[in-house]
Amino acid sequence: MQKNYNRTIELTALYEISKLLGSSLNLRQNLRGVMRVLAEYLDMNRGTVSLRSNNEVSILAAHGMSEEEIKRGRYRLGEGIIGRVAKLGTPIVIPNIGDEPLFLNKTGAREMIRKENIAFLCVPIKFKNEVLGVLSVDRLFGAKNISFEEDLRLLKIISSLIAQSVKLHLEVEKEREAMQEEKERLRQQLKSKYKVENIIGQSDSMQEVFGAIHRVAPSKANVLLRGESGTGKELVAKAIHFMSPRAKGPFIKFNCASIPEGLLESELFGHEKGSFTGAMAMRKGRFELAHGGTIFLDEIGDLPIALQPKILRVLQEKEFERVGGEKTIKVDARLVAATSRNLEDLVKDGRFREDLYYRLNVVPIYLPPLRDRREDIPVLQEFFLNKYNKENGKSVHIAPDVLNVFMNYDWPGNVRELENTVERVVVMCHGKTATRTDLPINIRDHSFKAKFAAQLKDALPSTIEDIEKTKLIEALTRTGWNQAKAARILGITPRQIGYKIKKYDLKQP
Ligand SMILES: Nc1ncnc2c1ncn2[C@@H]1O[C@H](COP(=O)(O)OP(=O)(O)O)[C@@H](O)[C@H]1O
Ligand SMILES: [Mg+2]
Repeated sequence: MQKNYNRTIELTALYEISKLLGSSLNLRQNLRGVMRVLAEYLDMNRGTVSLRSNNEVSILAAHGMSEEEIKRGRYRLGEGIIGRVAKLGTPIVIPNIGDEPLFLNKTGAREMIRKENIAFLCVPIKFKNEVLGVLSVDRLFGAKNISFEEDLRLLKIISSLIAQSVKLHLEVEKEREAMQEEKERLRQQLKSKYKVENIIGQSDSMQEVFGAIHRVAPSKANVLLRGESGTGKELVAKAIHFMSPRAKGPFIKFNCASIPEGLLESELFGHEKGSFTGAMAMRKGRFELAHGGTIFLDEIGDLPIALQPKILRVLQEKEFERVGGEKTIKVDARLVAATSRNLEDLVKDGRFREDLYYRLNVVPIYLPPLRDRREDIPVLQEFFLNKYNKENGKSVHIAPDVLNVFMNYDWPGNVRELENTVERVVVMCHGKTATRTDLPINIRDHSFKAKFAAQLKDALPSTIEDIEKTKLIEALTRTGWNQAKAARILGITPRQIGYKIKKYDLKQP
């Protein structure tokens, strides 16, 4: 009869506990409820749930203990009974805590009670084979000995319920953290406020370029792009066009250094039928083709001086005549020009008209060489790796030592050279991972030489100076710091030795 009664209470308690564990998102609060049920239904007092993190176990929730007492409940793994259960993953029962030296009573929660009347039961909270924490309770008993087997059985059931709930919370927490991280990552990404499609660059200097693109694109202003070959001038020119109100109009590109001088004028402005031998039909030039859109004149510094007035006119008056034609043609084209040459020098040398220079230089944008923004190298490498993996249907990885070489190389061909190098690596790589040996020999060697030279530069002078200093001290010691004699030994003049003693700050000991 008594047994049946106990069973009913146990079942009721278990039911309450499982309800409590799912009652809120606050694990601590749920567990506190569970510990209360243990006390109220099962005479198990001062229940605690401690959770393990790394090498420590600390109380998360308890019933019948003050906050102060809970705070003191921290154990190293293996320390005291709770620490041991956490470490070993097996239950421990202390029938009488008064007799047990292992019982630390760190929390000091039981000072008022005669210890011989308390048993301490402690079971691991395990999920599969992982010990997540420890559940412990005090069991009050009278003088008679009682069996703890039943208690342990029940506590194990409860601890497995707790384990599932704890695990779930930990997972949710982990997910929340991952989401937080992702949010932070996205926020960081947005922080590089200016993004221009297809142009990669996190360096401050590239961020400035992006900012300039955003500001200038909507306007009608002429833009002059400056920078070494391969720094991305053409890419920027296109970005400006596609971010401008003329995006739907044509983007016409022309390289002023690409054809002989004699053909340039007709190429740029077109010609009328029969205007010169071979001019079989009327042909529109690039400016005309760019009507309503953007004309990109690359290597504008190579524009012959004779043609410059005509360019100036089309920029100022928006009009020109075809070669061999009388009719004035109106054109609305925005000019984006680029140069890798020093236009100021060309102006000084009389090879570039000053008025045209000022007309072009309204909004200059400078693209820095890659060696001056090395922090962009990893992102660019990643970008081109993806691009060429996709293009070649491969999934090549690049070993970290390759990035090392890239970071040390000077990239005279700038981004274009980096892009070509990554493409080559992807195409040529046999295995899954490209390493140093897959790099073109000039890049591999160059970065090695550069490093070696830098080391030598650092090492050499100090070595020579060290030798000289040692020799000086040797000679001075031998002559009892007689400078004239020491100078004779070393084959230098007294004046020279005086100078060197000062230089190395040598003093007689
Ligand atoms: N910041 C960048 N992000 C992505 N690709 C770039 C970047 N800069 C240059 N490139 C690529 O490098 C190559 C050379 O760029 P380009 O615009 O032709 O340089 P430039 O006109 O200054 O000689 C192109 O294939 C271009 O797409
Ligand atoms: Mg170019």
